[in-house]
Amino acid sequence: MKLLVTGGCGFIGTNFIRLMLDKHPDWSIVNLDKLTYAGNRLNLMDLEENEERYEFVHGDICDRSLVMDLLSGNYFDAVVNFAAESHVDRSINDPSPFVTTNIQGAQNLMECARQSKIGRFVHVSTDEVYGSLGKSGKFVETTPLAPNSPYSASKAGADLMARAYFETYDFPVLVTRCSNNYGPYQFPEKLIPLMFINAKSDKSLPVYGDGMNVRDWIYVDDHCVGVELTLTKGREGQAYNFGGDAEETNINVIKTLLSAVGKPESLITYVTDRPGHDKRYAMDFSLAERELGFAPSVDFKTGLEKTIKWYEANATWLEQVQSGEYRTFMDTWYEERT
Ligand code: NAD
Ligand code: DAU
Repeated sequence: MKLLVTGGCGFIGTNFIRLMLDKHPDWSIVNLDKLTYAGNRLNLMDLEENEERYEFVHGDICDRSLVMDLLSGNYFDAVVNFAAESHVDRSINDPSPFVTTNIQGAQNLMECARQSKIGRFVHVSTDEVYGSLGKSGKFVETTPLAPNSPYSASKAGADLMARAYFETYDFPVLVTRCSNNYGPYQFPEKLIPLMFINAKSDKSLPVYGDGMNVRDWIYVDDHCVGVELTLTKGREGQAYNFGGDAEETNINVIKTLLSAVGKPESLITYVTDRPGHDKRYAMDFSLAERELGFAPSVDFKTGLEKTIKWYEANATWLEQVQSGEYRTFMDTWYEERT
């Protein structure tokens, strides 16, 4: 299988490329990434030595001529689109890049893939397109889309475009909707790595609102396997939910992490809530269980221990990715919340 993966220098894309090249000796991957603040070419630099199996292309999924050039060469069997602006807080600060990359970029990729007659296209979406749950119930694939942040609205826009491409053009697209990932290479703007670096340097841990919002945590490799199963076994036109079956309140996640790194709970600081903050996400992934044979394999306690060990062993990576742009956004965002 010859794959075009987009956004492969980000958190999930990096883990996906590493896992797939390891599992499938006959697969080769071209990784198209714009290298935004969240993308790091160094994540996969060691793979660049093996040109037959892995190639990096620096570019934007919105660039029609670049994507057409790549896809029209009759080289790829499939496309997997991870490229996105992915941070909810940044989307509140400035929604524009989210609309550009997450909607227009995704549509550009689908259009180029359609014109090039690519046989399979997996679009990686999120559980956030469904909006927020009350105390009970879970999202199923037929739950109406009701996004609450500019980020999730932009992801829902692409999901609807994927649906339209399937219905209108019979375009072989499949959509994955997964819950909160954690694991190696996650950028330290997201809850777990941010709390890890703050705790390690004895800085306060900013908890939005009352800390009782619930997320369903999945270890990143389990999500990557879900994407792989969708690619190899999924039904065209179908969206599949994935989750870790590990619902936790934010405050529990933070307390567990503090205890694992041996730091006191006195570092916790409650700050102004995120506007439009979804209360609870929970995934019913029984369709993926039945049709694809999916099951999460890492429980939250084990996954969190593995993740903390990775961050402890990769302090240099953590330092490198905290660019000037990252620091500017973080300083402004959290200053406004205290
Ligand atoms: P990330 O922010 O870590 O990485 C995004 C990558 O996309 C970066 O390498 C960035 O450089 C690249 N990129 C951004 N704009 C681009 C463009 N216009 N052209 C080419 N490349 C571009 O994101 P992530 O957490 O790895 O998420 C990957 C995908 O999975 C996203 O689509 C996200 O919506 C989805 N998702 C994430 C989670 C999660 O918990 N992180 C859960 C479910 C779904
Ligand atoms: O559910 C899947 C989604 O998970 C993905 O689609 C997104 O790309 C990904 O960023 C993630 O979104 P969240 O908003 O859930 O993740 P985040 O790590 O930003 O926040 C997790 C929870 O922690 C959320 O309820 C907000 C809270 N939080 C977050 C930060 C950064 C805090 O309380 N304090 C913080 O400083």
